[in-house]
Amino acid sequence: VTNRTPLIAGNWKMNLDHLQAVAFVQKLHWTLKDAKHEDGSVEVAVFPPFTDLRSVQTLIDADKIPFALGAQDLSVHDSGAYTGEVSGAFLKRLDVSQVIIGHSERREYHNEGDDIVAAKVKAALKNELVPVICVGETAEDLEKHGASAVPVGQLEIALEGVASDADIVVAYEPVWAIGSGQAATPEQAQEVCAKLREVIKAKLGDDAAARTRVLYGGSVKSANIASFMRQPDVDGALVGGASLVAEEFAAIIRYQK
Ligand code: G3P
Repeated sequence: VTNRTPLIAGNWKMNLDHLQAVAFVQKLHWTLKDAKHEDGSVEVAVFPPFTDLRSVQTLIDADKIPFALGAQDLSVHDSGAYTGEVSGAFLKRLDVSQVIIGHSERREYHNEGDDIVAAKVKAALKNELVPVICVGETAEDLEKHGASAVPVGQLEIALEGVASDADIVVAYEPVWAIGSGQAATPEQAQEVCAKLREVIKAKLGDDAAARTRVLYGGSVKSANIASFMRQPDVDGALVGGASLVAEEFAAIIRYQK
């Protein structure tokens, strides 16, 4: 038994423009009326594209919708001559509270290595944003080194120099499970999430290990969420495709163990 509040996070990736985003958030909110996130027993977060953040923030604020707002990336810099970048300071001004860092799509398509991930974690914390640090192995890594070696190594570097009282979230996303329809088994997810918690313990101490939420991500849907949530070291889910369908995402949020 833990007192970690489960976190169900929707990573929209590059989907839903700002008009679609507003309609979607309204629909999700109404679909969820009286669901358990209203009493705080589950935290719900949405991670729209940058261009949607202002519109979604205005809606959440005006209608008192209890969703946390997250961004999908941030710059390592706070401001300056960095064309195309968005800073943590700007995100904070928009009431963004969380930011995804090191998603495998950033690592793969934008060459973000562990050093950039570590710098972004620091930029997030400096701006009082909760970094949602993504780690995970490719199918090739899995075959060569087993499931946990790569994510453990990635997390060790990402946590270098992070203060023991930092508010962070870790997401284990096996790359082979992302968007493939083939999720990890709950046992696989538990095994790696437990190892990631060991890394948190070694780097940040016992309190941080007990407090920090470790999520599973990769083909999560309403039909498998409960099996993940029954695992002692899985504290929630980072959901991609299924977070774009209001009824389906609502069903995930409403999971029953
Ligand atoms: O960040 C979440 C994501 O990578 C998982 O995507 O579509 O497999 O749920 P999906």
